[in-house]
Amino acid sequence: MPPSDTPENTTAPGVEGGSAEDKLIVFDQVVKRFGDLTVLDHLDFSVAPGERVTLIGPSGSGKTTILRLLMTLEKITEGHIWIDGEPFSHMPRGSGLVPASESYLRQKRKRIGMVFQQFNLFPNMTVRKNIMEAPVHVLGLSRDEASERAQELLDLVGLGDKIDAHPTQLSGGQQQRVAIARALAMRPEILLLDEVTSALDPELVAGVLDVLREVAETTDITMLCVTHEMGFARDVSHRVLMFDKGQIAEEGHPDQIFGDPREERTKSFLKSVLENGH
Ligand SMILES: Nc1ncnc2c1ncn2[C@@H]1O[C@H](COP(=O)(O)OP(=O)(O)O)[C@@H](O)[C@H]1O
Ligand SMILES: [Mg+2]
Repeated sequence: MPPSDTPENTTAPGVEGGSAEDKLIVFDQVVKRFGDLTVLDHLDFSVAPGERVTLIGPSGSGKTTILRLLMTLEKITEGHIWIDGEPFSHMPRGSGLVPASESYLRQKRKRIGMVFQQFNLFPNMTVRKNIMEAPVHVLGLSRDEASERAQELLDLVGLGDKIDAHPTQLSGGQQQRVAIARALAMRPEILLLDEVTSALDPELVAGVLDVLREVAETTDITMLCVTHEMGFARDVSHRVLMFDKGQIAEEGHPDQIFGDPREERTKSFLKSVLENGH
């Protein structure tokens, strides 16, 4: 189905063709500009439920912007984003679509969790409270349920004994594992990971990646992951998207992208990452 900007176009691309059930996330001709700078240029891509997709590409190619749009931290300039066949960047109004309101976005983003390069834990709260806040205030869990969930998730990330610690008492790697537990506490269908090991001392990287491998293996959560950890990307992702200047330069199975890249831009990007010691 050709993309359309007409307000009558209220169905996700592919829905009428019957293929939308295998698409959880759809970017349809998404443009994002900051002033004169076009960061995403008529971007089309989709992600299937349970799929794990790694985004690679040079700094400034728009990877973080894609995650921030999904986290509703930014608004698109043109085009549409759909989640699970429903409008996400927009909402239905009459027979058409209008840009999503704050309350619509708040509802929709409950399904999505994000972990950032900087862990962004609340420094004045215990680990338990960091993890419990959103489930209590956004999902309406009781304190007991939320506390139990916090304990389970801390066990999962190997920090069951740190529940009453404060973030400043933890290493960067431990803080990032708490941040992963905090994102999972919302039981998101989609987990967004933006260079989650880039701010860590090298010896702490493996522990965090092991936790994410475990999450990948034991859940059917859909993952969009920006990383320079190519070994991890190769192990965990079903598909790799190579971005350049806000467009997809190349995409494919990790074995193909890392083992036999076709595009010159992919080759030179991978070479530069290798030279930087990853
Ligand atoms: N809030 C903003 N205001 C202006 N420019 C921005 C903003 N956020 C990102 N950019 C620009 O958008 C481009 C893409 O950024 P980003 O998505 O962070 O790229 P990546 O994550 O691939 O490094 C960069 O040129 C960046 O400077
Ligand atoms: Mg980035």
